Amino acid sequence: MSNETFWDTRYAGSAQVWSGRPNVVLQREVAGLTPGRALDLGCGEGADAVWLAGLGWHVTAVDVSGVALRRGAAQAEAAGVAGRIDWQRHDLAESFPDGTYDLVSAQFLYSWSGLPRTQVLRRAADAVAPGGILLVESHLDHGPFPAEHDGHEVHFDTPEELIRDLGLDAADRWEVLLADAHERSQTGPDGRPAVRTDSTLKARRVP
Ligand SMILES: C[S@@+](CC[C@H](N)C(=O)[O-])C[C@H]1O[C@@H](n2cnc3c(N)ncnc32)[C@H](O)[C@@H]1O
Repeated sequence: MSNETFWDTRYAGSAQVWSGRPNVVLQREVAGLTPGRALDLGCGEGADAVWLAGLGWHVTAVDVSGVALRRGAAQAEAAGVAGRIDWQRHDLAESFPDGTYDLVSAQFLYSWSGLPRTQVLRRAADAVAPGGILLVESHLDHGPFPAEHDGHEVHFDTPEELIRDLGLDAADRWEVLLADAHERSQTGPDGRPAVRTDSTLKARRVP
């Protein structure tokens, strides 16, 4: 099954997969930034993109799933921000949006069917304009969801691994502003609250 089919099937399986709310860490880390051009990689149903556009950002929102992108576009219309979001379908393993951005955000960009995540995140770092921000939110464990990975091994990079693998340790080019691990409560597949460990990596490209 292709990555596109996998995600289209997953999205088509219910009216709404994610909460519809922007990611908490994105909200916290974007506060104080001057709106400019933003790139949202693996935007899903578009809650982050719509929220950013509401703040005045011009957003390029990318996902492999056309089902998810259409959902995001409908949300943007309803919120009156459609004119500030360019929805682009890419399988990021094969193509990447053009341009450079003041904010490049990858919030839980994962796939269990062959996403070359480190390679894609290197492209993401390359797409950050001088003075711009790279924000990567990752999992550090499976939390209550061991089954969703369907037997596929997913390596959860630590922030230190990402810093090394993306070349963010080059102090003449990058300033790492935040690299942490933190717990988050999440409702498990059995409907009970559980704890999941995530990580945040935020870096600024030196102007
Ligand atoms: C775990 S979801 C996160 C969605 C959203 N960022 C959020 O935080 O709610 C991962 C997203 O990455 C997308 N994705 C997975 N592999 C991809 C690929 N190769 N190219 C583009 N998007 C991909 C999926 O369709 C899905 O929407």
